[in-house]
Amino acid sequence: MRHRSLLAYANYRYLKIAAFVVAAAIAAYALERAPAGRYGGTWLGYTLGTIGALLIAWLTWFGVRKRQYRSTAGSLQGWLSAHVYLGATLIVIATLHAAFEVGWNVHTLAYALMLAVIVSGFYGVWAYVRYPAKITDALGDDTQESLLLKIADIDRQARTLALSLPDAANKLVMAAAQGTRIGGTWREQLAGRDRGCPTSAAVAGLAAVGKTLSGNAARVNQQLFALMARKEELVARARRAVALKARLDVWLYVHVPLSIALIGALTAHIVSVFFYW
Ligand code: HEM
Ligand code: HEM
Repeated sequence: MRHRSLLAYANYRYLKIAAFVVAAAIAAYALERAPAGRYGGTWLGYTLGTIGALLIAWLTWFGVRKRQYRSTAGSLQGWLSAHVYLGATLIVIATLHAAFEVGWNVHTLAYALMLAVIVSGFYGVWAYVRYPAKITDALGDDTQESLLLKIADIDRQARTLALSLPDAANKLVMAAAQGTRIGGTWREQLAGRDRGCPTSAAVAGLAAVGKTLSGNAARVNQQLFALMARKEELVARARRAVALKARLDVWLYVHVPLSIALIGALTAHIVSVFFYW
């Protein structure tokens, strides 16, 4: 809900402003009379370049603004809505500024970095609209914390139950308690599962052990098996929530560093055009 309203904020105010900016830039470009041909150094070229550079500075400022919780200059929601729509206008502003000229130079490096930042931003918006509801689904009535508490609780119960069973069952339960990992490196978080998961191994292993038992031991083993199967399900849910959360965060590790690189390349671009002037 919060993120859906990001796009619709204030009745699509920033979408309208962005559409106006894009239309004005295209009209100015179409009407421009440039005797020496269109390029970044014409009157309009400089205007669009300056607007583009100011926009990029402002978009980067968002990282600082986000952290100033006490500031009252507009809601964060409104800022983000403006960020997304005005950020996207750069595709048109910068392309018209460069008059569709690209080559292997620092100007095009700035342009390419800008496009990469924007594409990662599109992914971010898509993720913000899509994943929060999926995370809620994966967690159900639980929170990440309560899931972990339930899992720890099952581990304790299982180890007590296993005490009266053969060594094989004890080993499986112990390995499941000590070796089951939720999260970890980025890659593990994003994978959302573990092929060598000791809890899954315990579920399969206890089923096999059960076939060799009879009487009371078989009953206890059956209880233990049910506990481990329940744990397996909780672990799967916790991993899924972690994976979705990671997908929600991972793009910022592209968006933000490339924004910094963009500022660097853009500075080089601007300095170099004035240097060779
Ligand atoms: C204050 C801001 C800016 C100024 C003063 C400026 C200036 C210029 C000038 C004078 C040119 C023409 C260079 C030539 O053809 O010899 C140019 C081209 C270009 N600019 Fe900018 N620019 C600015 C912002 C930007 C921004 C924000 C971008 C995109 C991130 C950008 C990307 C380009 C590209 C790709 C070219 C074409 C280079 C080529 O011909 O190979 N510029 N710029
Ligand atoms: C060249 C253009 C852009 C630059 C330089 C830029 C830069 C930034 C920066 C510095 C942040 C703050 C991140 C942080 O500190 O956590 C940010 C956040 C964000 N950007 Fe961009 N951005 C640009 C374009 C876009 C575009 C076009 C979109 C979407 C279509 C977008 C989507 C977002 C989103 C959704 C966030 C919020 C992240 C959060 O609050 O968790 N950005 N951007």
